[in-house]
Amino acid sequence: MAKKVAVIGAGVSGLVSLKCCVDEGLEPTCFERTEDIGGLWRFKENVEDGRASIYQSVISNTSKEMSCFSDFPMPEDFPNFLHNSKLLEYFRIFAREFDLLKYIQFQTTVLSVRKHPDFSSSGQWEVVTESNGKKQSAVFDAVMVCSGHHILPHIPLDSFPGIEKFKGQYFHSRQYKHPEGFEGKHILVIGLGNSASDIAVELSKKAAQVFISTRHGSWVMSRISEDGYPWDMVLHTRFISMFRNVLSRFKIIRKWMMEQQMNRWFDHANYGLQPQNKHLMKEPVVNDDLPSRILYGAIKVKSRVIELTETSAIFEDGTVEEDIDVIVFATGYTFSFPFLEESVVKVKDNTVSLYKYMFPPHLEKSTLACIGFIQPLGSIFPTVELQARWATRVFKGLCTLPSEKTMMADTIKRNEKRIDLFGKSQSQTLQTDYIDYLDELASEIGAKPDLLSLLLKDPKLAVKLYFGPCNSYQYRLTGPGQWKGARSAIVTQKKRILKPLKTRALTTSSTLLVSFLLKILGLLAISVAFFFQLQF
Ligand SMILES: Cc1cc2nc3c(=O)[nH]c(=O)nc-3n(C[C@H](O)[C@H](O)[C@H](O)COP(=O)(O)OP(=O)(O)OC[C@H]3O[C@@H](n4cnc5c(N)ncnc54)[C@H](O)[C@@H]3O)c2cc1C
Ligand SMILES: NC(=O)c1ccc[n+]([C@@H]2O[C@H](COP(=O)([O-])OP(=O)(O)OC[C@H]3O[C@@H](n4cnc5c(N)ncnc54)[C@H](OP(=O)(O)O)[C@@H]3O)[C@@H](O)[C@H]2O)c1
Repeated sequence: MAKKVAVIGAGVSGLVSLKCCVDEGLEPTCFERTEDIGGLWRFKENVEDGRASIYQSVISNTSKEMSCFSDFPMPEDFPNFLHNSKLLEYFRIFAREFDLLKYIQFQTTVLSVRKHPDFSSSGQWEVVTESNGKKQSAVFDAVMVCSGHHILPHIPLDSFPGIEKFKGQYFHSRQYKHPEGFEGKHILVIGLGNSASDIAVELSKKAAQVFISTRHGSWVMSRISEDGYPWDMVLHTRFISMFRNVLSRFKIIRKWMMEQQMNRWFDHANYGLQPQNKHLMKEPVVNDDLPSRILYGAIKVKSRVIELTETSAIFEDGTVEEDIDVIVFATGYTFSFPFLEESVVKVKDNTVSLYKYMFPPHLEKSTLACIGFIQPLGSIFPTVELQARWATRVFKGLCTLPSEKTMMADTIKRNEKRIDLFGKSQSQTLQTDYIDYLDELASEIGAKPDLLSLLLKDPKLAVKLYFGPCNSYQYRLTGPGQWKGARSAIVTQKKRILKPLKTRALTTSSTLLVSFLLKILGLLAISVAFFFQLQF
């Protein structure tokens, strides 16, 4: 009989977990507390308890070819960076294509997940849910926790003495929806993450003045990279990853590399944005407008706030900004698992002890996995997909986890490495590198491409895999869940990137001809000049 799996949440992580369960012949039931799929990506005008809340203008900061699931490219005509409504559309097409909706019980909240009395032998869980005020209990062979980690606001009022006196309005970025209503105001945005930057930029088009206060600074990148390609297609290649891994063992070289790369667009020191610890690979801000809004004076970058008064903010460098009307705390999130006992998963200081960010190491049976409790340096979508592919194979007994001792040792070591690479900040507690982590997950299920053997069999593809973008299709070339379309998807991705940009027909043939003729003329001119030089 197929094993029954409870999937908690129908956001991206939940949807892809459902598909992986079906692919592995498991029998999933997904519980979603709201009335629809999409999780964070389903914008609503009102803020809902227990669900992530975004502003109307959110656009993905990872590109479509790097964010799609491995056997399901996004439609060709989709833009490269997607408005939240477009990304939701992709998830809807995905759910329809793989017929996933029939497994979801909407408006059903998971209240508790407890070990079944015979857990040590069966590995089963008792899941209690509530729907329309009615509680129900059911037993499952395995559980996939896909409840998201951008739900609970982190709003550190203790770090802002005087906030109780402040007479203006203040709220967390989770509450922010539109710039309307902020016309002519003086606004202070706290933090320099992606939320702070997006919100500051948007508000600066309506407000009288926006200030952004940062304690540690941040690197800021554009979505547009070399030759106009999306940043993640250029930076997330195996070649660059290997190069960085070798060199970044030395902090001084890592720092130098980061500075060279990040300051290519503009000098962060001149804009007041420069990170305090330049060697850290802390998640960068991806924002095309922030530097220009600073150049226009519409946004002013300030240091840490040390005190607030009724109407003003006093900063670490002694400067004061008066007449502040609004403070937006874009200070990130904390997370919890209210339906799980602490003995199963314990969150302390925004960190959890999970083997490879997924499995509680001390369970007698590996039948519970957390999917999506991670912040990779690239797109989370292919990441959660590989997590779900591995988890479902563990549940089936096709993959086994090492001993508790080995898992604990790995978790401790991984945490130390994380702090070394990304720092101790609260916003970095779930941070991981990208390609290394994807490869690690793929190795667990035997889906990591073998570049050496590929070099002999299909050198063109091997070169693309090494020097080209490390997209999710790479993990469908081999092993379980192989997809026949993977090679073609890799070879044709440039077409899908350029397709939405081809909105104006250009007579490329004539320009090519002109440039060819000019080159010939240039060569002739050089030859003639050379001839005359020899004569005289
Ligand atoms: C503003 C913003 C923009 C982002 N942009 C990007 C981006 O461009 N690229 C990227 O890779 N990542 C991005 N991220 C990261 C983001 O976390 C992921 O993109 C992704 O949405 C996470 O999906 P999830 O399914 O894990 O969680 P969620 O989308 O939060 O979904 C969790 C679901 O679980 C349900 N749920 C929770 N508790 C229960 C319960 N007890 N019972 C039943 N159901 C429950 C919720 O209702 C929800 O539907 C962004 C994050 C934010 C905040
Ligand atoms: N367009 C998009 O795709 C988009 C938009 C928004 C968010 N996101 C994603 O969503 C996730 C959450 O982003 P986020 O920006 O909401 O949160 P975040 O990345 O956690 O950033 C929080 C910011 O608040 C600061 N902060 C925290 N505590 C503070 C304190 N006590 N005093 C002063 N500053 C404090 C942090 O500064 P320190 O660095 O100094 O700790 C950091 O700059 C990220 O993965 C992000 O990429 C994506």
